[in-house]
Amino acid sequence: MDTEMVKKAKKLLGEMTLDEKIGMIHGAQLFETEGVPRLGIPPLKMSDGPMGVRHEFEGDQWKTVGYSDDYVTYLPCNSALAATWNRNLSWETGCVLGEEARGRGKDVILAPGINIKRSPLCGRNFEYFSEDPYLTGELAVPFIRGVQSFDVAACLKHFAVNNQETERLWVDVEIEEQVLRAIYLPAFHKAVAKGGVLAVMGAYNKLWGEHCCESRFLLDKILREEWDYDGAVISDWGAVHDTDRAARCSLDVEMSVTSDFNAYCMADPLKEKVLSGEISESVVDEKVIRILVLMMRLHMLDGRRKSGSYNTEVHRRKVLEAARESVVLLKNEKDRLPLQRENLKNVLLIGENADRLHADGGGSAEIKALYEISPLMGLKSRLGGNVRVDYARGYCSSEEFGENDREGNGQEPHNWQETSLEDGGSRLTKKEAEGSLLKEKRRKLRQEAVELAKCFDTVIYIGGLDHSHDCEGNDRENMKLPNEQDDLIQELLEVRPDMIVVMIGGSPVEMGAWIDKTDTLVWGWYAGMEGGNAMAEVLLGETVPSGKLPETFYKTHLDCSAHALGEFPGDKKVSYKEGLYVGYRYNDTYSVEPQFCFGHGLSYTTFEYSALQIKKEEKRICFRIKNTGKTAGKETAQLYIRRKKKDWPLQELIGFEKVFLETGEEKEVVMNIETDTAGCEILVGGSSRDIRLRCEG
Ligand code: BGC
Repeated sequence: MDTEMVKKAKKLLGEMTLDEKIGMIHGAQLFETEGVPRLGIPPLKMSDGPMGVRHEFEGDQWKTVGYSDDYVTYLPCNSALAATWNRNLSWETGCVLGEEARGRGKDVILAPGINIKRSPLCGRNFEYFSEDPYLTGELAVPFIRGVQSFDVAACLKHFAVNNQETERLWVDVEIEEQVLRAIYLPAFHKAVAKGGVLAVMGAYNKLWGEHCCESRFLLDKILREEWDYDGAVISDWGAVHDTDRAARCSLDVEMSVTSDFNAYCMADPLKEKVLSGEISESVVDEKVIRILVLMMRLHMLDGRRKSGSYNTEVHRRKVLEAARESVVLLKNEKDRLPLQRENLKNVLLIGENADRLHADGGGSAEIKALYEISPLMGLKSRLGGNVRVDYARGYCSSEEFGENDREGNGQEPHNWQETSLEDGGSRLTKKEAEGSLLKEKRRKLRQEAVELAKCFDTVIYIGGLDHSHDCEGNDRENMKLPNEQDDLIQELLEVRPDMIVVMIGGSPVEMGAWIDKTDTLVWGWYAGMEGGNAMAEVLLGETVPSGKLPETFYKTHLDCSAHALGEFPGDKKVSYKEGLYVGYRYNDTYSVEPQFCFGHGLSYTTFEYSALQIKKEEKRICFRIKNTGKTAGKETAQLYIRRKKKDWPLQELIGFEKVFLETGEEKEVVMNIETDTAGCEILVGGSSRDIRLRCEG
């Protein structure tokens, strides 16, 4: 910590009463602590989250203020960002979030979420980057730096092993320490060491019987002692349960979802313990000093702070760039894509996600988007009046049948977060509604879509998931496509085998029912306000796809190790028995064929790899990539290591580089190697299963 800052903080502290100190270490509103106005100390203002700066809530209830001034730029979700494999885009996106957070007057933005995707069923996977610690860390670092370049603290969440939503407040994670350190902690470590993150959010769950926000092992030993972290630690909302434990570990701020702010563990209960001498006041002082230093680092006390801005044109351009590179072309066997614009006469889009907007869902990641371009709008606005673009819904979700109605009890609408401390409290509905009315409606929609599909030259299916499935507080039961989409897609492919299939979602879905019958498949995520434009550009070839899967797309969730070898979601206790074998580490070692492997993603052009050389002394490798196709494009070359160790995953990602190549162009790619490769094999390729070059390390 900067000694000057600590000196100043101590001076301020010396002038503060116990009440004033206590006011700074717990929520005094849902997203704010208390300031000390007489000393010029402002409250600490926080906001979610990863997909943009969340709208304003009233201070003491989960009721949106409802003004018109909190619409913001809607960013691609972290899974989308990870699919770009582009560090620069992660930095740019972080900058947008930081500048908007400042523009909205925030001090801490509760992002990025960097938990490892242990299971494809975790409801918050869309908020996280990847199943791989290296990819996660590499993208989190520039994101954090981007945010913090605007005098706003990023708040890294959720520390740690917060890998499921079921029983999220109470689930106790059993894991070997070696696995914790090899898979679940490295991205957090990198974010601290290289990203210089200024705030960390403790997770809801327990680790080895202790709640993460009260864990001396996680917060004191790992974070403070081993990693030398001197930033602030903020609890997740309602994650603190015990005054003594929370006070005695290096948690700095307690936040929660209830409005009895003085009853929080680190409010009156802590004050009483200090007054009775049970807990020393110095415990409180340490926390206050860290918060004051954070405020100084953000220039909150010296009047030299950046002002930020939101909804700028530059922000919209940047989120479009990220959205473009997030689209993953999974299959293009007959080169149906890109569509030849000049030949298009009439196009039919089928499926709710062609027309559906996603910004205001998902849990705490919800935002009020200034606008959101749907794929339908993206395509229509591009193709203009001479091409007929029609839309058929094809299926409907159960929401409109009332089963999911969270606000339909005649009372004032409140936010889901009010009940978010109950297990599955934010969940819309446990099971898909099976009512006969719904079935009948879907049958009709299906029939209508199939009939229409026969009459159009070009048919594009745009379905997948939405935030009633990719949602905080809620894990999926399996990877099946909801709303009877499997039946619909199969029926459509029978009459239109040339149909282009587009899936939108934050996590993979089962495709077994129809995957062999389709030759063209595109994956899009919740890609922000410009998502529909990005998708249209890719379909029409204005953008050459360059996204690659940041996670394994399993055939079913049973092909994922957490389900095959470990446990998910467990019963109050969950044992990570699969150990190091997370994601592709399991599938590759145990030869379990995925639907699409980690790192997979096609382009409209082709690339050739050659001339791999390892320069051991310089700790780097170099090789060449040539664009051998007919269009310019970007390729993400991936570097894997095979350690040839017993009881160790077959291969692990240790590097990647994204390069742009004109047609026929060839470039040398150089990658630094941070890992010891002696006795190992080095693999370079376009995905974890498309290895083009290899050498001894
Ligand atoms: C979530 C956090 C979020 C917080 C504040 C919690 O329910 O787990 O990710 O930042 O609420 O909204």
